[in-house]
Amino acid sequence: MRVLAIETSCDDTAAAVLDDRGVRASIVASQDMVHGKYGGIVPELASRQHMVAILPVIQRALGDAGVGLDDIEGVTATYGPGLVGSLLVGLQVAKGIAFDRQLPFVGVNHLEGHLLAILLDRPVAFPYLGLLVSGGHTSLYLVEDVGRYRQLGRTRDDAAGEAFDKGAKMLGLGFPGGKEIDQRAVAGDRARIRFPRAQLKSGLYDFSFSGVKTSLRQYLLSGGSAALLDGGEAALADVCASFQEAIVDMLIVPTLKAARDLGATSIVVSGGVSANSRLRTAMTETGTAAGFDVAFPRFAYCTDNAAMIGYAGRARLLRGERHDFTLNAAATLPIGVDPVER
Ligand code: KG4
Ligand code: ZN
Repeated sequence: MRVLAIETSCDDTAAAVLDDRGVRASIVASQDMVHGKYGGIVPELASRQHMVAILPVIQRALGDAGVGLDDIEGVTATYGPGLVGSLLVGLQVAKGIAFDRQLPFVGVNHLEGHLLAILLDRPVAFPYLGLLVSGGHTSLYLVEDVGRYRQLGRTRDDAAGEAFDKGAKMLGLGFPGGKEIDQRAVAGDRARIRFPRAQLKSGLYDFSFSGVKTSLRQYLLSGGSAALLDGGEAALADVCASFQEAIVDMLIVPTLKAARDLGATSIVVSGGVSANSRLRTAMTETGTAAGFDVAFPRFAYCTDNAAMIGYAGRARLLRGERHDFTLNAAATLPIGVDPVER
């Protein structure tokens, strides 16, 4: 089955074409230029930009795949969670194409897309432990099958990506901040500043990132800013590396504990923050030493993309699952409980 997949849940306009040989095309039009000057995503601008980009992005995906709409046999799109104004654009275009062409259609949960993205690159046996780390989410799941997920833990406050973005803003770096911090941290000393690691007493596999953000603010107010002015690029690299190390540590500890407790053999990390080079190295080293198979999707499938939505949607379509055209966008959408018709 050749499937057209659309993803517009946040600030990337994405379309992909997948068939039984895998991903034939995957196009992502980033809106970073639009939102960068505001230091965060402006929802109204995001949906407007999706309106401008969505049809050209679909045309490019079809062109790259060397197919036309006539060759598409199924349509899938993200319907939540995300910014409703953004979701509606991609979802409505997908429903319109499916309606016009009388094609089977199914909506996909964005989180499901991230959790399954690894399967675009390599097989991983179920059940596996899935750590989802993005700008909006930081959660641990046991992935039992396509469509069967058990949530084990979640962040109590900020998502890890949010901590990176807010930290970068405090340091005067651009948006999105994760990549900015990652790049500067490469030359820095991870042990230069010891930012505290949150330790939660209850909620075995939960995370918390508001504390590390506050301690960065305190560090800057109590002499850190002056040290940065004096120390230039090298001092900034040290702060980035130390701040990043605290976040990475706080992601690794509950993940390894959950993997041990649940007897998972594989740990899969996904979502925008899984592009972080230090998280990739540290999780791989620690996880491998503890006897786990640790897997990260390729960079292009870590951040938002439509290929991962196509993977999840195509698997559901092949099983005969369908949504009708009343499917609406959902700002919040827990994973694994969507009422899909079979
Ligand atoms: O999954 P994603 O593209 O969008 C959603 O939030 O769903 O994730 C975006 C987040 C942003 O917070 C961004 O700063 C973070 O992923 N990110 C990174 C890196 N690349 C993107 N964080 C740390 N290191 C990176 N290299
Ligand atoms: Zn995402």
